[in-house]
Amino acid sequence: MNTEKIHALASEVEQKVIDFRHDFHAHPELPWKEEETSKKIESVLIDLGYENIRRGFYGTGSGVIADITGKEDGPLIAIRADIDALPLQEAVDDPWKSTCDGVMHACGHDAHAAILLGVAHVLAALKEELPGRVRLVFQPAEEAGVNSGAPMLIKEDALAGVDAICGLHVWSTLEAGKIGFRSGPMMASADIWEIEVKGRGGHGSRPHEAIDPTIAAATIITTIQTVVSREIDPLETAVLSVGKIESGTAANIIPETARIQGNVRTTNPQVRESMGGRISRIAEGIAAALRCEVKVDFIPIYPVTVNDAAMVGLLRETTGELLGEKALEELPIVMGSEDFSFYQQKVPGVLFFLGMGDPSKGTDAQHHSPNFRTNDSVLTNGVALLSSLAWRFLETFNR
Ligand code: NI
Repeated sequence: MNTEKIHALASEVEQKVIDFRHDFHAHPELPWKEEETSKKIESVLIDLGYENIRRGFYGTGSGVIADITGKEDGPLIAIRADIDALPLQEAVDDPWKSTCDGVMHACGHDAHAAILLGVAHVLAALKEELPGRVRLVFQPAEEAGVNSGAPMLIKEDALAGVDAICGLHVWSTLEAGKIGFRSGPMMASADIWEIEVKGRGGHGSRPHEAIDPTIAAATIITTIQTVVSREIDPLETAVLSVGKIESGTAANIIPETARIQGNVRTTNPQVRESMGGRISRIAEGIAAALRCEVKVDFIPIYPVTVNDAAMVGLLRETTGELLGEKALEELPIVMGSEDFSFYQQKVPGVLFFLGMGDPSKGTDAQHHSPNFRTNDSVLTNGVALLSSLAWRFLETFNR
């Protein structure tokens, strides 16, 4: 593999990648509304001669996938970039600040899209030497939750024929120049649950003639805390939070129903699997004891992001060669979540963090904050790393 050539090509397209990034940043689009972003991406890929270009998923004009075939057929690796923005008013006043009121690229997905277009240039320039095939996946709606992009793209065959997948996330709390990685669980699962408790309404002065769902709901709220404190191995990680309570309309009325909603995060797929059953068991037991009826819904959102050990090995080699061993930083599990995890349920994959924190540039502000700012100086490393990682995978498995 010619790492130097890849690095040189990545540097050559640096200004182009920065321009793409600024353009995407100035024109952010919400999940499943990334049509203009997708059209721009599509036109660049057409110009570069990509094959099997497909734009539009989930009944929208959003999302683009495209392939490049090298000197031989070989294995197929996908590289994924998410492209959606967030409903947030930007507070940063850069020349390329959002032109769309209340919408902002506050997670760096503009950088991801721009970096992957940089990769598209590098791979196109080296097409004759590429030892296999690469699919670029510009994924919409990473932030959408229930209808997020990855599972929809998988349903619509975006992963057909793919042997492995890789991707990156710019990371503001990791120092610029560092590459954050982790083998096994890297980011948490995130799921939602809802409990509806049904009693019998009545007058506040005659509780014996009513069945009070509020008391049952309150008891459920306190008792489900024992799932984490008493049922889960203390060496495992789980978060169970109540986010919303809804019950009653006036001080002297015992209501008919009470509703509770909350979320669960875990870092182990087995623990995640068990959470819905544990919450249901406690809710049903308490409701029965207090003469109420209960309905429990567990709504799965994002699985645990689990990095494949062999893919992490390739990432470490690639990073070591391009940026030096010192750039590698093994991170603790992040309790945020990523819909990249859906791809990893289908094929081996690795997601890594491209550090970009630099207080002198203000690029260390929290993701999803109005002060979030991307560090353009790390984009070239992202282009070189993803290109080399894909190349290394193809070389390793094309035997
Ligand atoms: Ni993000």
